[in-house]
Amino acid sequence: MRIAMIGTGYVGLVSGACFSDFGHDVRCVDRDMAKIDALERGIMPIFEPGLDQLVARNVRGGRLSFTTDLPSAVAGADAIFIAVGTPSRRGDGHADLSYVYGAAEEIARALKGPVVVVTKSTVPVGTGDEVERIIREAAPGLETHVVSNPEFLREGAAIEDFKRPDRIVIGTDSEEAAEAMREIYRPLYLNKAPLMVTSRRTAELIKYAANAFLATKITFINEMADLCEAVGADVQDVSRGIGLDNRIGPKFLHAGPGYGGSCFPKDTLALLKTAEDYQAPLRIVESTVAVNEARKRAMGRKVIQALGGDARGRTVALLGLTFKPNTDDMRDAPSLSIIQALLDGGAAVRGYDPEGMEQARALMPDVAYCDSPYAAAEGADAAVLVTEWDVLRAIDLPRLARAMAQPIFVDLRNVYPPEEVEEAGLRWHGVGRAG
Ligand SMILES: NC(=O)c1ccc[n+]([C@@H]2O[C@H](COP(=O)([O-])OP(=O)(O)OC[C@H]3O[C@@H](n4cnc5c(N)ncnc54)[C@H](O)[C@@H]3O)[C@@H](O)[C@H]2O)c1
Repeated sequence: MRIAMIGTGYVGLVSGACFSDFGHDVRCVDRDMAKIDALERGIMPIFEPGLDQLVARNVRGGRLSFTTDLPSAVAGADAIFIAVGTPSRRGDGHADLSYVYGAAEEIARALKGPVVVVTKSTVPVGTGDEVERIIREAAPGLETHVVSNPEFLREGAAIEDFKRPDRIVIGTDSEEAAEAMREIYRPLYLNKAPLMVTSRRTAELIKYAANAFLATKITFINEMADLCEAVGADVQDVSRGIGLDNRIGPKFLHAGPGYGGSCFPKDTLALLKTAEDYQAPLRIVESTVAVNEARKRAMGRKVIQALGGDARGRTVALLGLTFKPNTDDMRDAPSLSIIQALLDGGAAVRGYDPEGMEQARALMPDVAYCDSPYAAAEGADAAVLVTEWDVLRAIDLPRLARAMAQPIFVDLRNVYPPEEVEEAGLRWHGVGRAG
């Protein structure tokens, strides 16, 4: 099949590269000239494990190419995927659909024949109807099906997730469009990945319901961690004790500094706006959003408490800045709220991250960025483990302790056993566990 992928970001690039690896002929389009230039020179615009080899292999095989010229990519395509961003709209939390509608208009103007247009971006219920209207108006008489095909990949494990999905969701009422989608996903379908065909609105909602549920699960264990601290229980054991129950499952039950990233924060907010518009309030999701927002800044206060209640004139080293390991994505990372709380409290902040420092620097220019965890800890009064990168799971704790002015170690991911931290000469603080 000939596929055009509009938007070559985290989702568009990974999806486009994987589709080409399935044997399809893929043209990835982006309006960002620098991104396309870099890709044409074999340079990845994002950090995602395994992506550079996957892209190189398929470019060499002549199945994957990049362009800024949308009309040329769309001409002759059997399916056009929209994978542009849908950030929170400034001010009200609704999903900003201007990129999706903008792409739909450009596609409509370029269309010459019948085609399947697929929305892969995460979009609120009813967006597919509007995309269909835009295309029908601009290209009357052309037979176009608009399908919803939400993406569930996780940054950091994106290729594996795309190639071994728990399910593929296809939202369309057209049997012809469903058949085209089955053809596109055939290699996965043959591998027995469940492929569900639903109505378009149902598919759009499945994506938000999944993200809201996962965000709620994380927030549940985070609140439970606070209760554990108050009553002297251990959240790690509570987590294991409930996670071993098959009805609950162990994933997304690790207490930490709150969820962040490019999806959960904006998608939970957008879902609440949809619920409000349709007068069907989602009180559980409302609480999740409020609790998580408060938690991120509360983690900054936790560090200040560990410092004895006053951060003024102190230096704090943040180890790990991205919202999770194996990505360079800093969007809505908890570290941003923690840094802000520390700066507001009068501390100087030093930071280290294996991949996220370039993006972090643009968002938080007042941090001193260092090239190793030990350099960040040099002269610090506290070190805070924020993101559990592999290199930060294997810190030489005695060396860290020697570099620091004061031996305070706040482990916001409960990576290190308290005894190991104390043996290294550091004072341990964790999440949801008695010291
Ligand atoms: N990042 C994730 O882990 C993830 C996972 C699942 C779903 N999603 C959803 O996928 C969508 C894309 O997310 P992302 O993280 O890949 O975004 P991104 O910001 O990394 O990439 C979007 C790209 O689209 C380009 N673009 C915008 N308008 C365009 C146009 N008219 N023509 C060509 N290019 C255009 C931008 O230049 C940008 O490169 C969002 O709706 C997001 O919610 C993201």
